[in-house]
Amino acid sequence: MAVPYYADDAVALYLGDSRELLPGLGLQVDLVVADPPYGETSLAWDRWPDGWPTLAASVARSMWCFGSMRMFLARGLEFTAAGWKLSQDVVWEKHNGSGFQNDRFKRVHENVLHWYRGDWRDQHRDVPTTLDATARAVRRKQRPPHMGEIGTGAYLSEDGGPRLMRSVIQVRSMHGRALHPTEKPIGILDPLIRYACPPGGLVLDPFAGSGSTLDAARQAGRRAVGIEADERYAEAAAKRLSNLVLDFGGAA
Ligand SMILES: C[S@@+](CC[C@H](N)C(=O)[O-])C[C@H]1O[C@@H](n2cnc3c(N)ncnc32)[C@H](O)[C@@H]1O
Repeated sequence: MAVPYYADDAVALYLGDSRELLPGLGLQVDLVVADPPYGETSLAWDRWPDGWPTLAASVARSMWCFGSMRMFLARGLEFTAAGWKLSQDVVWEKHNGSGFQNDRFKRVHENVLHWYRGDWRDQHRDVPTTLDATARAVRRKQRPPHMGEIGTGAYLSEDGGPRLMRSVIQVRSMHGRALHPTEKPIGILDPLIRYACPPGGLVLDPFAGSGSTLDAARQAGRRAVGIEADERYAEAAAKRLSNLVLDFGGAA
């Protein structure tokens, strides 16, 4: 049995290849949050870990996966062959972005796709609502005729009451303060985790990087296990997570 690189009451981080470590951990989790290398460039670190969607399917029935449209079009069959069904896509809109190619639009977003296995009715899905409703709140109380039958009931918002969170979520990127070059901010991870993992439930991040998912899960009152192959990032994640523990200890 592998020994965690870092652990506290809520989170555990392992150093190694998730495809080698995960089977031995004997986990069943409520939610996978995956941010794999997209495998789109020739950079040494940007290698798609073959077979990971199947491995994720062996431990969970719900998964958020970060990626680009190009990545999902190239790899989609790996998800569906592993039994994953797509429920929805969310867009994280960043305040800045990457302009690698000067003949294309500057990319200021990432896609996050929610996948599930089994019956949709068995999924934990706690629809996030915003509290910023104003006079602009939803006035239409009936499903518009063009939508037809799309599944379990429409959400009815009272004027002035909470509204469903929008699928395009604006959160500042970690540019200038990141521990990891592709670090995801807590602000985008938090609603994804709250949506698909019940309070106290267990989240797995097989590509943990800076430990952002573990941090976000812990702050949201969930537990989390992370695996990171690069010791530089595992070390940064452990430091980040232990600092937070000290901070919380002092506040209590
Ligand atoms: C896109 S980054 C994740 C960044 C992370 N979401 C964050 O917010 O910091 C992908 C990470 O997966 C790690 N990685 C790549 N292949 C892996 C594997 N087979 N097992 C575990 N980690 C892996 C890389 O070292 C890298 O840190």
